[in-house]
Amino acid sequence: AQTVRLAVVAGDGIGPEVVAEGLKVLDVVAPSVGLDVAPTHYDLGARRWHATGETLPDSVLEEVRGHDAILLGAVGDPGVPSGVLERGLLLRLRFALDQFVNLRPSRLLPGVASPLAAPGDVDLVVVREGTEGPYTGNGGALRVGTPHEVATEVSVNTAFGVERLVRDAFARAQARPRRKLTLVHKHNVLTYAGDLWRRTVDAVGAEHPDVAVDYCHVDAAMIYLVTEPSRFDVVVTDNLFGDIVTDLAAAITGGIGLAASGNVDPTRRSPSMFEPVHGSAPDIAGTGRADPTATVLSVALLLEHLGQADAAERVVRAVGDDLLRRGDLGPRTTSQVGDAIATSLA
Ligand code: NAD
Ligand code: IPM
Ligand code: MN
Repeated sequence: AQTVRLAVVAGDGIGPEVVAEGLKVLDVVAPSVGLDVAPTHYDLGARRWHATGETLPDSVLEEVRGHDAILLGAVGDPGVPSGVLERGLLLRLRFALDQFVNLRPSRLLPGVASPLAAPGDVDLVVVREGTEGPYTGNGGALRVGTPHEVATEVSVNTAFGVERLVRDAFARAQARPRRKLTLVHKHNVLTYAGDLWRRTVDAVGAEHPDVAVDYCHVDAAMIYLVTEPSRFDVVVTDNLFGDIVTDLAAAITGGIGLAASGNVDPTRRSPSMFEPVHGSAPDIAGTGRADPTATVLSVALLLEHLGQADAAERVVRAVGDDLLRRGDLGPRTTSQVGDAIATSLA
């Protein structure tokens, strides 16, 4: 059996609840394809911060680096100042491990109700930049608390960072049946960054003549995601636009409880990290109402990344079975959903 060293960061709120179900499913599927999953559970998040003031100690980061992959639940807690855990733990992992491809597929699966009257055939993947943009902390504040306060948060876009992401997005578009790539940006206002993204897409696009290239300003993309989402195949975009676009893409394809993601380092120099798109949902934490499906589908992305495409496909099919049956069942708890998916797999 091939051993998979899996770092598990369950995190805060519903994070541990949904991660338990993701691991439950992984434990069923892994042995059937000869994988031996060896998890290391990390106590990181609000509890640790309250107890020790630590978010992600250097020594823990170095330990995590030695794993084959990471499964993360969610971080963030109303009792911790906003940004402390989001930046100090989640973004630190994405940045330090150079997970520059934030992969967020959205597919409207059979049996799933979309809030759109006529969603059409929605099957898109957002390739979101994961290490740059307005997320880098390149800003500051002057005269805080005075009427003359000035706050800046400058978006960082490097030729290196944009090109490697755009290349990855074209490769993905090339491998999909529709071979279409849409750059989502705002070059009518964000002159410098927009120009870099546009020139990069033009240049890499010239090397991929069989990929159809389209462009949408991000505001118009919000219209089309609601009126005609089937026009999108691969969407390539920056870190902040991608964050926003993918919550809407989730909402139109069955909700945030189904949206999976991978933070991928395609060079494989560091472990990639798989997590639901949603957060710690403090409003429902502890009630057993969190849908673990997004985490289970993130486990499928993890399996695919590990070269286990068949196992990944089986997990997606088991989720598909569960989604088809959902309409006939009443409300279920987080673990009942996990059990149903695991049973259908076994
Ligand atoms: P959220 O995604 O946690 O919640 C938004 C809404 O979706 C809430 O109504 C919540 O109940 C619902 N929801 C989320 N996941 C669900 C699930 N699996 N099943 C059913 N309903 C679900 O976003 P938020 O409220 O903006 O943020 C809460 C906290 O999470 C904040 O601290 C935020 O910074 C953090 N956050 C973390 C991540 C992450 O760790 N990747 C992502 C987003 C937000
Ligand atoms: C997400 C989250 C994170 C992001 C936050 C919590 C840093 O919203 O994973 O979508 O903005 O990337
Ligand atoms: Mn988000």
